[in-house]
Amino acid sequence: MAPPGIKGRFLVFALFVIALFLFVRLESHRAPPGQLSPIEQAKKKPASGPSLTGHAIAPKLGNATAKAELGRAAWKVLHTTFARFPEKPTPDEKEALRSYVHLFQRLYPCGECAEHFGKVLAKYPPQVSSRSAASMWGCMVHNIVNKRLKKPEFNCENIGDAYDCGCGDDDTKDTSKKEEGA
Ligand SMILES: Cc1cc2nc3c(=O)[nH]c(=O)nc-3n(C[C@H](O)[C@H](O)[C@H](O)COP(=O)(O)OP(=O)(O)OC[C@H]3O[C@@H](n4cnc5c(N)ncnc54)[C@H](O)[C@@H]3O)c2cc1C
Ligand SMILES: *[C@@H]1O[C@H](CO)[C@@H](O)[C@H](O)[C@H]1NC(C)=O
Repeated sequence: MAPPGIKGRFLVFALFVIALFLFVRLESHRAPPGQLSPIEQAKKKPASGPSLTGHAIAPKLGNATAKAELGRAAWKVLHTTFARFPEKPTPDEKEALRSYVHLFQRLYPCGECAEHFGKVLAKYPPQVSSRSAASMWGCMVHNIVNKRLKKPEFNCENIGDAYDCGCGDDDTKDTSKKEEGA
């Protein structure tokens, strides 16, 4: 049996060794200066998404039939998205639409179309303040593409009726039926 004084000193020394060991381990998890630790990176992620305005990602789409079919489907999705966007969107909803339009352009499966459309977006950034602003903007940029492809101009005054898909659940109509089938 060791004298009580020795035992106490040993305990202090053991605690010191444990503390030193923990300190060294924590330090080794810290990133070098100027770099973010994994935890800091994970926290930062939502703010730094993909670049919304980079190069067009898809390759050239040579087949003209496929290109036209894709275009008709894509315009339908876009115009219908705008027609069903809230009339009074929240800041988050506006940001979602802005990001969506930009990434839609970057990832559009016809690379040469995406390239052209990128220039259109640079000149006419998406209007996301309301459903009517987004719909009118969509009609306007589609007309720019129409013009370049020598297609007839669409009358944007009819945009509201043209993409009223009769999908239901429209809170600008009968609000009492809003939650029906939800
Ligand atoms: C972002 C994008 C870029 C494109 N770039 C190219 C390209 O560079 N080269 C290429 O060859 N093709 C491109 N296309 C495809 C092209 O725009 C057409 O979709 C395709 O040529 C088929 O044309 P369409 O005559 O059937 O009518 P679309 O232009 O596909 O239109 C479909 C229907 O939408 C309605 N419509 C027409 N104009 C408007 C408007 N302004 N607003 C609302 N509704 C309207 C009409 O009812 C029309 O029949 C692109 C498509 C998209 C979505
Ligand atoms: C072009 O695309 C159309 C529609 O996708 C397809 O039916 C056709 O076979 C394609 N043509 C060639 C030469 O690949």
